[in-house]
Amino acid sequence: MQTRFMPETTHLRPASLSDARAIGDLHVAVWRETYAGIAPKALQDVIETRRGPAHWQDTLAKIVAEADPRAGVLVADTDAQGIVGFTQYGPSSDPALGSGGEVKHLFVVRAFRSQGLGARLLHAAFDKLRAAGFAQAHLAVVIQNQRAIDFYLREGARKGARFRDAGPLWRSENIALAWRL
Ligand SMILES: CC(C)(COP(=O)(O)OP(=O)(O)OC[C@H]1O[C@@H](n2cnc3c(N)ncnc32)[C@H](O)[C@@H]1OP(=O)(O)O)[C@@H](O)C(=O)NCCC(=O)NCCS
Repeated sequence: MQTRFMPETTHLRPASLSDARAIGDLHVAVWRETYAGIAPKALQDVIETRRGPAHWQDTLAKIVAEADPRAGVLVADTDAQGIVGFTQYGPSSDPALGSGGEVKHLFVVRAFRSQGLGARLLHAAFDKLRAAGFAQAHLAVVIQNQRAIDFYLREGARKGARFRDAGPLWRSENIALAWRL
């Protein structure tokens, strides 16, 4: 019998508490791959603590406890590989971005990129923010992350101001991007 390669179907769903480990592992792995040559070593050394499973356990527990309809995490899930991407959205918490909704994280594992999954997650986050009453969505990208900036511009982003992150571990130079929802 011939075995035919079947591409994996991904479906989007809200994250549950039991996803903390998978999201944290994915976040740290993709963060390292994206920012290894850019971020200061001091931040790379503590990224597991700041973005790993324990951080996501706390973040998801807080989201569940607060039950704020404006905030959440969506994951892209597959049968064989589990979670292959995620996004976190909520009210903007960065003064540099102004008021409105914010896409706080968007990460897709390399093997699942360039298939429209990043766009699906981004627009699903926009749908949630729009349904929560936000008229605008924002995010900030480190200026060296040109591939992500190009991706967001293709997805209709307007360029805003450049600003420096408050730090202390990485006073990165960022660009604000915005969408009307
Ligand atoms: C930025 C990121 C989320 C984009 O995810 P993605 O799944 O690759 O995004 P998409 O597939 O929707 O779109 C990107 C590419 O696929 C193409 N594309 C879009 N829809 C497509 C489809 N249905 N079929 C094939 N290609 C498609 C786009 O033209 C684009 O082309 P490129 O690969 O030449 O750049 C991903 O690259 C990533 O996780 N990067 C590392 C982390 C990061 O930088 N996150 C952002 C921090 S702010």
